Amino acid sequence: MIDTTHFKFASHSRCLIAFVVSLMWVQWFSNECVAQATGPTTGSANASAGPTPSDRPGEQASTNGVGVNFELLAGDQEQRIDRLINNMTLAEKIGQLVQLYPDEDALGDDLAQRVRRGQIGSIFYPGNPDVVREAQRIARDESRLGIPLLIARDVIHGFRTIFPIPLGQAASWNPELVEQAARVSAHEAKLAGIDWTFAPMVDITRDARWGRIAESLGEDPYLSSKLAAAMVEGFQQERDGHFGGIIACAKHYVGYGLVEGGRDYNRVSVSQADLHNILLPPFRASVDAGCRTLMTSFSEINGVPATAHAPLLRGVLKRDWQFDGIVVSDWGSIGEMVVHGFAKDPVQATELAVMAGVDMDMCNALFEKHLAKLVAKERVPIERLDDAVRRVLRVKFALANRPAEFSDPEVLGEQGLELSRRVARESVVLLKNNGPLPLDLAKLKRVAVIGPMADAPQQQLGCWVLDAKSEDSVTPLADLRKRLGDKAEVLYAPGADSTMSDDETLIPAAVKAASEADVALLFVGEDAVLSGEARSRASLNLPGVQSQLVKQVVDTGVPTVLVFLAGRPLAIGDEVEAAGAVLFAWHPGTMAGPAITDLLIGEASPSGKLPVTFPRSVGQTPIYYSRSNTGRPSPPEYRPLVGSGKVDLPIEFQYKSHYVDELPNPLFPFGFGLSYTQFDYSSINANSDKLSFGDDITLSAKVTNSGKVAAVEVVQLYVQDKFASIVRPVRELKAFRRVHLEPGESKRVTFRLNSADLEFYDNDGNRVLEPGDFNAWIGGDSNAQLLVEFEVVRANSSMKPNTAQQLPTAAASVPQPR
Ligand code: BGC
Repeated sequence: MIDTTHFKFASHSRCLIAFVVSLMWVQWFSNECVAQATGPTTGSANASAGPTPSDRPGEQASTNGVGVNFELLAGDQEQRIDRLINNMTLAEKIGQLVQLYPDEDALGDDLAQRVRRGQIGSIFYPGNPDVVREAQRIARDESRLGIPLLIARDVIHGFRTIFPIPLGQAASWNPELVEQAARVSAHEAKLAGIDWTFAPMVDITRDARWGRIAESLGEDPYLSSKLAAAMVEGFQQERDGHFGGIIACAKHYVGYGLVEGGRDYNRVSVSQADLHNILLPPFRASVDAGCRTLMTSFSEINGVPATAHAPLLRGVLKRDWQFDGIVVSDWGSIGEMVVHGFAKDPVQATELAVMAGVDMDMCNALFEKHLAKLVAKERVPIERLDDAVRRVLRVKFALANRPAEFSDPEVLGEQGLELSRRVARESVVLLKNNGPLPLDLAKLKRVAVIGPMADAPQQQLGCWVLDAKSEDSVTPLADLRKRLGDKAEVLYAPGADSTMSDDETLIPAAVKAASEADVALLFVGEDAVLSGEARSRASLNLPGVQSQLVKQVVDTGVPTVLVFLAGRPLAIGDEVEAAGAVLFAWHPGTMAGPAITDLLIGEASPSGKLPVTFPRSVGQTPIYYSRSNTGRPSPPEYRPLVGSGKVDLPIEFQYKSHYVDELPNPLFPFGFGLSYTQFDYSSINANSDKLSFGDDITLSAKVTNSGKVAAVEVVQLYVQDKFASIVRPVRELKAFRRVHLEPGESKRVTFRLNSADLEFYDNDGNRVLEPGDFNAWIGGDSNAQLLVEFEVVRANSSMKPNTAQQLPTAAASVPQPR
């Protein structure tokens, strides 16, 4: 029953209450949206009995000609939300926190009825726009309060137009482009009635075994933060109070990317310092970019499931960062706390989650089952419940001004496809080139196109492509046929049915094709199902018979270009060694073919840089550039014992940090990527050799294109804090810039750092800046050698603030629930 004491309706007719409140909901959204086609109808209420529009102060006309005393519409959004909450029943409040997955075929009577009763706040888009259209209509027109549903879907790297997997997009090091890709995805999704995507995934990961590395933005907190913010902005398109896109969701808060052994859902154990220095920054960047929702992780973190981690949820996120959006659990992660051995039963799991700060229950049906009882028993204060509802309503208000949806989908438009091609092109990393690239078409009569990924329309899309259609894909084979057609003959031989196939019978035909051609283009890698959620691998080798295929093709002596399409870094040292040139294209999406051909034939020069370190073998994982030094680093000239022909290591190599059967360094370092030209770095400079607390320092270097083609270089700045109260990484990325250089052209690239950029969190969760010596390198990857040193000094003037002390500290204590 609505408590009308807070309301003053123009008419006191009780029968109007439902309608009026419903109408208010729509009008509370915005002044403009009253006329939306999606606005409420009279539903079960009797509109004709209502008051007529008038010019009385405080009243507005509705589409139905019903006037409402909008005294209750006065005030800012928060006040309107509060009034709405005051008029919701407990069941309606809980309903807002419930998310379900409907059947794809039809909404179903039961779900329709629950939506009508206001018992559902959000549903997934099940692949069928009709289902969500109907659900949304019922929510808006037939539920008592007319509160719309949030329609959710994993739009991870495209809706219908598929962009490279996020890890591939990260290899572009191009936040503007990544933002544009998210815009297109949001647009396509919005047309299908989707309000909310569960992206970006901003988990830092340093373990290529973990299948979800494909969805990540790589190993580095700085690069991930920049790209995460760009994705959030692209998805949401929120400017000056206007919301143009779909709601973003930074996930999985937090620590998921560190799952032990790279095995999905596994435990995570992490120091306070690493948590704050490495894992939290991309979430903070997402929140600062306006991200309106966050999802908890499936994992436990230091023994506490992330879904019940009060210090991180209520403390860091909601208190310290002032995050006022929705925290949604991951799919079933509340109930899974019982399996974890953290909650004794689903009731306790529900209490723990909601009291820790989870606002919405994804597909677990636990809030709807247990929350009312928990509130009645005062295990969950009504204030906590209201806070969760308020957060959901805030998001719904934000969406209210969006342009109308459900028009006929204009998906897969030319511009989107062209953008997809560009993102794919910029995400490809040239790992090696001994000469075959770019292809000299004038000299090629026959081109062998080989490998299971050459013509695999579904596989090139990668993981999480729920709404893609494989027939939209342009494969490398199709595009090469089209673009080389009249210049060179294309000889196609797949060599294997799939990347996972153990059948060697197709290899001889591939070898034959190669031996008849002037060049062999060999497309190998991983099928899409080998990466993504619950797709961890224990090996990082090329699966199936692909290594044999590569070897036998290379053995023909025909120049071989290897193109990898895969969802993770692979341990491909032997293949790289054997081939003449190597491109790593990740899973490039719909436009894989055109993007890769652009690079193969030199219409563009590769500019991608690795957002993750490539291990030599799986045993090196986790491996990342931003490691700490040991007290016994391996000397650069170290060679493993196994394979050396010796019975033991020479004395100077003993008792060092290495493997006896592998080099300690990676196959390719973070930030690495070649081009068809050559970039030279020189003349590094710091504008001062001292940096006072609170001040800036300017670091610069000259970059020259000393080759013959115009190209883009990603110039990178790394810094090392040489001695500190906790051991700091050997180097950390602090800035980067994409620079276009014509042949022979030089540019001085300048980066400005503030002393705050050199702060870090210690193991008590305090953010500190310590005086001392720093190294800075500028170059084209994380092995950059051009070095300049400077010293951070305490300001001797009391005017200089110690910014460290002004920054929020980590949650030492947990605040009481609101
Ligand atoms: C994944 C999330 C995803 C959710 C909804 C879960 O299994 O971990 O990343 O957003 O499902 O599909």
